[in-house]
Amino acid sequence: MSAPDHPQASALVAEVMATGALTGLPQGHFIDGGFVAAAGGALMDTFDPSRGKAFATFAAGDAQDIDRAVGSARRALASNWRRTTPAERGRILQRAAALIRAESHRLAVVEALDAGKRLSEAYGDVGSAARAFEYYAGACDKLQGDTIPLDDDHLAYTVLEPVGVCAQIVPWNYPLATMARGVAPALAAGCTVVVKPAETTPLTALLLSDLLCRAGLPPGVCNVVTGTGTEAGAPLVAHPGIQHVTFTGSVATGIGVMQAAATQVTHVLLELGGKSPVVVMGDCDVEQALQGVLGAIYENAGQICSAGSRLVIARPLHERFVQALAERARALTPGHALTDPGLGPVNSAAQLARIDGHVQRARARGVRVVTGGHPTTDPASGRGWFFEPTILDGLSPDDPAVQQEIFGPVLCVQVFDEPEEALALANGTDYALVAGVYTRDFAAAHRLARELDAGQVYINEYFAGGIQVPFGGNRHSGFGRERGLEGLRNYCRIKSVAARLS
Ligand code: NAI
Ligand code: MG
Repeated sequence: MSAPDHPQASALVAEVMATGALTGLPQGHFIDGGFVAAAGGALMDTFDPSRGKAFATFAAGDAQDIDRAVGSARRALASNWRRTTPAERGRILQRAAALIRAESHRLAVVEALDAGKRLSEAYGDVGSAARAFEYYAGACDKLQGDTIPLDDDHLAYTVLEPVGVCAQIVPWNYPLATMARGVAPALAAGCTVVVKPAETTPLTALLLSDLLCRAGLPPGVCNVVTGTGTEAGAPLVAHPGIQHVTFTGSVATGIGVMQAAATQVTHVLLELGGKSPVVVMGDCDVEQALQGVLGAIYENAGQICSAGSRLVIARPLHERFVQALAERARALTPGHALTDPGLGPVNSAAQLARIDGHVQRARARGVRVVTGGHPTTDPASGRGWFFEPTILDGLSPDDPAVQQEIFGPVLCVQVFDEPEEALALANGTDYALVAGVYTRDFAAAHRLARELDAGQVYINEYFAGGIQVPFGGNRHSGFGRERGLEGLRNYCRIKSVAARLS
């Protein structure tokens, strides 16, 4: 029995299919250990992208709610979280991981419903969230400084302190997993947090903050304020009570966040977009590469910062590879995310229009559309915000489809003759998040890995890695690294102490 077939999942899915909604969803912001109504009383709708229909409301937060949440996080930082020993912090994070697993069915179904994520992918995200808490739980009591040799008359040492209250601005493509990968290391380091989830996917952030409190997290250590980027996100990142911002989202918004944070000299980590190449060399295992490229662009309907959205392929392989890929792409049929279809919807009507605009402009420029290229619907309901799995072929390096992030199920194909050309094409955008390589030549793979401009390189398995492996971008893809022990450093600051002993 796979996770989506579990009786608990089936009961929740049946409820959604029968009523279009779910009962018992969280109401209000989560501040100071409990749910509270928005100060202004305003509510917003959240939608089921598989049907393009609103199914629940949530609190539309503003600067007053942010102020309340930051105040709560500040108090928690100075009092109860500081008094919690590192070992106890670790136990709480371990309990959180166990609770996430115990409640995986509800978390996965809510995520699939709210984000339009295929149910099996949503289960994968719940697993990633649990792993983040498990991994950083083990680090809580291992954050230690150094003693520094000076001379007989001095003692010098460093202490790792929590940086303070941290803001987490979370996007809609991986709501639960992105929140977990930011919150878990922050809590491990002794920080407190205020999370602002995306306005199209507010629900699992609320479920997770409540779950963390049930795992033993003291009130105020993890707060969630829902609402729009302008009404709730902007006052959070510019708040004088915030010491660090982790932002995941678009380049334009990221630049604005950095500027707003600068007014308070607040530290930022930016995880922005990508236009990641998958370099397929002529000597690769073709079946392995086909599977890799297919998942790299069509998983989560291409709405992944690290999606392999460009296929950079050796000319001798090009024609038959693209034909085989197109056949598999056509076999990915749309359906309601909760039925675990081949292809899920995109997250919003706005995102669907953006993707469609990119493809329409490409077609108007004369770009060859091998397959797909249009919005579509779930055949069972005739509804939903879907876009056909699409391949644009034979693109020149300066084509806008190659240069711009589309953030949808649209693969852009670039062909090379010489290996040096592959490298130039791969590195030829403003983004530098991920690069994939498929080849049987071990030395060539590692030579390429050395030269590719990317925060991470995947060899013969796209999306290889996990919470242990640092992740982040270069150039317009942002800066700073999450995940791994490196991810903890964002939340620690060093204090040096030097004393004269004589
Ligand atoms: P966005 O970057 O505007 O939204 C991401 C998050 O930032 C959301 O929680 C939003 O509420 C918040 N936000 C928006 N304005 C803010 C502000 N002034 N201050 C603080 N927080 C703010 O992205 P959007 O509009 O949802 O999507 C546009 C494009 O961004 C997509 O088409 C895609 O290309 C890219 N994107 C990239 C993501 C990634 O994983 N790197 C995730 C989401 C979007
Ligand atoms: Mg939604």
